[in-house]
Amino acid sequence: MVESVASGELLVELRRNSGVALHQQLQAGIRDRIRDGRLRPGAALPSSRALAADLGLSRGVVVEAYQQLVAEGYLISRTGGYTLVAPDAVGSARAVPADGLLPEAEQPPRIDFKYSRPDVSQFPRAAWLRSLRKVLTEAPHDRLAYLDGRGADELRLAMADYLNRVRGTAARPANLLICNGFAQGSRLVLQVLAAAGHRRLAVEDPSDWELRGVAAAQGLEVVGVPVRDDGIDVGQLERSGADAVLVTAAHQFPTGVVTSAGVRAALVAWAVRRDAVIIEDDYDAEYRYDREPIGAIQGLAPDQVVYAGTASKTLAPGLRLGWLIVPARLVPAMAAAKLADDRGSAALDQLAFADFVSRGEFDRHLRRMRPRYRELRDTLVDALARELPELRPSGISAGLHLTTSLPGDLDEKALAAAAFDRGLGVYPLGPYRMTAGPPGLVFGYGSLTAAAVPEGVALLAEAVAELRS
Ligand SMILES: Cc1ncc(COP(=O)(O)O)c(C=O)c1O
Repeated sequence: MVESVASGELLVELRRNSGVALHQQLQAGIRDRIRDGRLRPGAALPSSRALAADLGLSRGVVVEAYQQLVAEGYLISRTGGYTLVAPDAVGSARAVPADGLLPEAEQPPRIDFKYSRPDVSQFPRAAWLRSLRKVLTEAPHDRLAYLDGRGADELRLAMADYLNRVRGTAARPANLLICNGFAQGSRLVLQVLAAAGHRRLAVEDPSDWELRGVAAAQGLEVVGVPVRDDGIDVGQLERSGADAVLVTAAHQFPTGVVTSAGVRAALVAWAVRRDAVIIEDDYDAEYRYDREPIGAIQGLAPDQVVYAGTASKTLAPGLRLGWLIVPARLVPAMAAAKLADDRGSAALDQLAFADFVSRGEFDRHLRRMRPRYRELRDTLVDALARELPELRPSGISAGLHLTTSLPGDLDEKALAAAAFDRGLGVYPLGPYRMTAGPPGLVFGYGSLTAAAVPEGVALLAEAVAELRS
């Protein structure tokens, strides 16, 4: 009988009694993995002692296999007993690029005005570590078990307090649901609304195109409603026959329009009259520069609004932390949908964030970041005024991005392509539009340095000159 043994230290499988010596099987297994790129140049192999114990072999078998592969140039051995895949291992196929980076063509541009990215180099690591250490030391064991579908009590309490204080919401911890960012939160909301009988979702035109696909996948019909200078056109929304709408009221994405008090009141009146649901994507409301903060619509109509917030703009998108305030009637279905989706968001991150918010660290971080982003915004607006005065910026009063108009002779796609050739990322408005509209560009400035911003605008001016020459 051929008996297989596999190692947990290194994925190779050996067959005893197969007629091929074990050290040869081991050599062949390691060689194959180096050749197909699964073992990368520089990767460390387990010690011969550990691998032998794991495979139930004598250590001599592993040593012999390693020595042969060293002789062939696949491995190198280092003093201290380390064995590594040789940096120039013969024939390594690089199925995964050795440095883990994207192939050259997919590298992001050197200066990238990719929208709405925060400066993750400013992530408050020390404060986060204090929170993490505290919860690891103090949290009761049961906080590491499966949690309520709405998330950890501590975080729901902390976020309800925070949002009611800062965003003027009317949240109760019982109505808070923690999710993996807006991406998951919005998908679950759309799923639950579709299951509850909603049929037609209105979205702002222009808006994020990804969400339209998500809504369609849930069986919702998606209709676009134009955004005016004071927010979504409520008259058209009324005529659209929609029974749900998604708005980015505090700072419209991508135009940056701030929804006026009148439009917010009209939206609420529409939702109440029609028993419709407003999904309020409050993605970057924490950054407001020149005007009074505008409270969330949720505070005006908690029974009609699903409010969505995210840590992606304030702390880091990689945290995958978001929160929803859900009308009471939708809470059980939302909690069940979250549990069915992933059994809940990571407990330690939730607890650490709860501690971070409760100790005022979130406020402190935002207080520190606001002037930085404001300075970047000012630098960008100044550079545009100096180098490209024809591109008029708008939507500048909040968030981490702005948009500009383009003169009629400039094609937004051609300009973005010419900029890209210069190592500059700027992004056309067109893909966000559902119906034709004037050309424009979207500039995210949150992750750039103050020096890169004018350099980027100078490159854009060169691209404009090239297109016109
Ligand atoms: C309009 C809008 N809402 C929300 C988000 C946040 O998404 P998430 O929380 O999934 O990172 C983004 C991200 O860029 C966005 O553009």
